[in-house]
Amino acid sequence: MASQIVATEELLAYVEDVSHPEDEVLTELRTLTAELPGGAAMQVMPAEARLLAMLVRLTGASTVLEIGTYTGYSTLCMARALPEGGRLITCDIDKRSTRIAAEFWQRAGVADRIDLRLGDAHETLDRLRAEHGAAVVDLVFIDADKKSYPAYYEKAVDLVRPGGLIVIDNTLFFGRVIDPTADDPDTVAIRDVNELIRTDRRVEACVLPLADGVTLARRTSG
Ligand SMILES: C[S@@+](CC[C@H](N)C(=O)[O-])C[C@H]1O[C@@H](n2cnc3c(N)ncnc32)[C@H](O)[C@@H]1O
Repeated sequence: MASQIVATEELLAYVEDVSHPEDEVLTELRTLTAELPGGAAMQVMPAEARLLAMLVRLTGASTVLEIGTYTGYSTLCMARALPEGGRLITCDIDKRSTRIAAEFWQRAGVADRIDLRLGDAHETLDRLRAEHGAAVVDLVFIDADKKSYPAYYEKAVDLVRPGGLIVIDNTLFFGRVIDPTADDPDTVAIRDVNELIRTDRRVEACVLPLADGVTLARRTSG
């Protein structure tokens, strides 16, 4: 028996068939995003978005931080899962894609719980830390420029409260992490963050071979 199922196109289509479908707003956002230069490849797949929403609900997170908004699909799914009074801060550097995001959040009726911070995420995170201190966030989702992942992870561990969760996307990076000939800065940074997490005693972690690899790291100590 195989220890890990191979995610063929047909099997992924079946996963969608047996899952709760996207609503009209999400489908339209996905269709529109696919036509952009960055395309749908930058966007989380529906199965991962459902996981993110479920993690927000399961952890009862009321303060969520997202690094990497793009056209706001993952933001929208997590924002919908927030409890009454919950807040999601999302960071991106790109005005064009986030303008689309804001339009769809408005249409979905969740704009009032989303705080978009435009600018370099390193600076945004430093500002958040200076304004609010450490351990103030319940859940962090990292999905921006790969070369910055080790730095984003360190800042996330500082910002998340003990018992809070850090979700890191793309940790298998199209399988390039195990390709010995792959030495581009993005792959190297992903390998570095994976090693950082493996040796980090402040978290307990697991790697899910879902989508492009999703790592969950729960902050255990204060
Ligand atoms: C993979 S996309 C995010 C996808 C989004 N989570 C979704 O599911 O639709 C990565 C985003 O990171 C943003 N980004 C890249 N470098 C950045 C930086 N230094 N600071 C903030 N955002 C950055 C890009 O503009 C892009 O929109």
